[in-house]
Amino acid sequence: MNGRILIIEDDHDMCEMLEADLRGRGFTPSWYTCGSEGISALGSDIFDVILIDINLPDITGLELCRQFSANYPDIPVVMMTAFGSMETAISAIRAGAYDFITKPVDLDILALSLKRALNHRTLQEKVNLLSNAIKQTQCFDDLIGESQPMKELFVLLTRIADTDISVLITGESGSGKELSARALHKHSRRSKGPIITINCSAVPETLLESELFGHVRGAFTDAKNDRKGLFSEAQNGTLFLDEVGELPSALQPKLLRALEERRVRPVGGNTEVPFDVRIIAATNRDLESAVEDGTFREDLFYRLNVFHLEMPPLRARGTDILLITKHFLERFSCRQEKHVKGISAQAAEKLLAYSWPGNVRELRNAVEHAVALTAYDTIVPEDLPRKICTYQDEPILSGTHNPTELIPMQEVERRYILHVLKTTGGNRTLTAKILKLDRKTLYRKLQLFGVG
Ligand SMILES: Nc1ncnc2c1ncn2[C@@H]1O[C@H](COP(=O)(O)OP(=O)(O)O)[C@@H](O)[C@H]1O
Ligand SMILES: [Mg+2]
Repeated sequence: MNGRILIIEDDHDMCEMLEADLRGRGFTPSWYTCGSEGISALGSDIFDVILIDINLPDITGLELCRQFSANYPDIPVVMMTAFGSMETAISAIRAGAYDFITKPVDLDILALSLKRALNHRTLQEKVNLLSNAIKQTQCFDDLIGESQPMKELFVLLTRIADTDISVLITGESGSGKELSARALHKHSRRSKGPIITINCSAVPETLLESELFGHVRGAFTDAKNDRKGLFSEAQNGTLFLDEVGELPSALQPKLLRALEERRVRPVGGNTEVPFDVRIIAATNRDLESAVEDGTFREDLFYRLNVFHLEMPPLRARGTDILLITKHFLERFSCRQEKHVKGISAQAAEKLLAYSWPGNVRELRNAVEHAVALTAYDTIVPEDLPRKICTYQDEPILSGTHNPTELIPMQEVERRYILHVLKTTGGNRTLTAKILKLDRKTLYRKLQLFGVG
């Protein structure tokens, strides 16, 4: 038994006696003789159980117990109360204590109580781990999904959320880049600070620099006052640079310099202002090829892309489509005061077959549309936008002679594999045989397409 016990008791001799006894029984006790010392010990060290005397010089034991149960709900508290006072014992339990023992302390009873509290703590930890695991497979913050690519994304999000490294999020429009950036911020140590978003493609080039870095009075005609930039506004928080691929080339070296020196120079100013901000950037452009063709600076690319997150397109997330549909269905039927309960199997089939070029944003709009339109309590195919209802699988090979409509090799492969799978009625062994792929390779590819 290696339970770390925090003892808060004003009687010095009593503390020494308890320490010797508990150590002899295999616990690891530490003691403090007033509440404030106990509070700071708990702030800097890890304990498994807290043992508190009801009478303390600076704060009542009950009040301390209340504070600990609120701030450290997973650490059980055992209270030592005066003999015969059932009232204080009840107040102790009401204040969140796990157990109480009466004074004078029977050391065997104390040890038993501490052991039970320790078991409780171990169990609590297991439950927490389990419920976090469940939560993580279904969603991460507001991101819903349980497909393989989303599970992998949630693992990465969890791992990097509480670090300060710069993250570049790529993915098609509507795939959840902004939602991921917000989730990262919310789960970071900066969550009490602001998250400030700027869409680099929506602000005119001439304004972007002063928007980001601020300006001093008189820097240009309209600059009537000093103005803080977004870097300063995001102090102690996160700055989300959306559509960073559209950042004008004149601004790229200035942004790079700011990120490297962690200081900004307001437009027209001659002093530099330091900042403490985490940077998350997003783009739906292929930044690597933008670097190759010289429209995006390589050094800035590496600065932003310390960690790369790729949002999978919705069509690669399999039945997540239905999970997200259910979520939006609840939201919109509540908002539109309708009682839509679900979708028909035929409508679900349409949703699963569609290619979702606008990803989750398009799905959200489709569900909103269907809820508004439906005359029943179940969505039927006719309630869906026409495009989705009448959608036909793309031909495997496009016979077009228009270069902009030609598709990459990978996409031809994806369409063909799915075509064979459909034609064999979902028989994977047969599919692998026809394609002359070993089963493992086929499974891996299907997983990538979200059919895993
Ligand atoms: N996994 C998801 N689960 C639930 N809603 C999502 C998910 N991904 C995106 N959304 C919703 O879809 C819309 C588009 O997401 P957004 O983050 O703005 O995409 P992007 O920035 O990639 O264009 C938003 O309304 C967002 O809340
Ligand atoms: Mg966006």
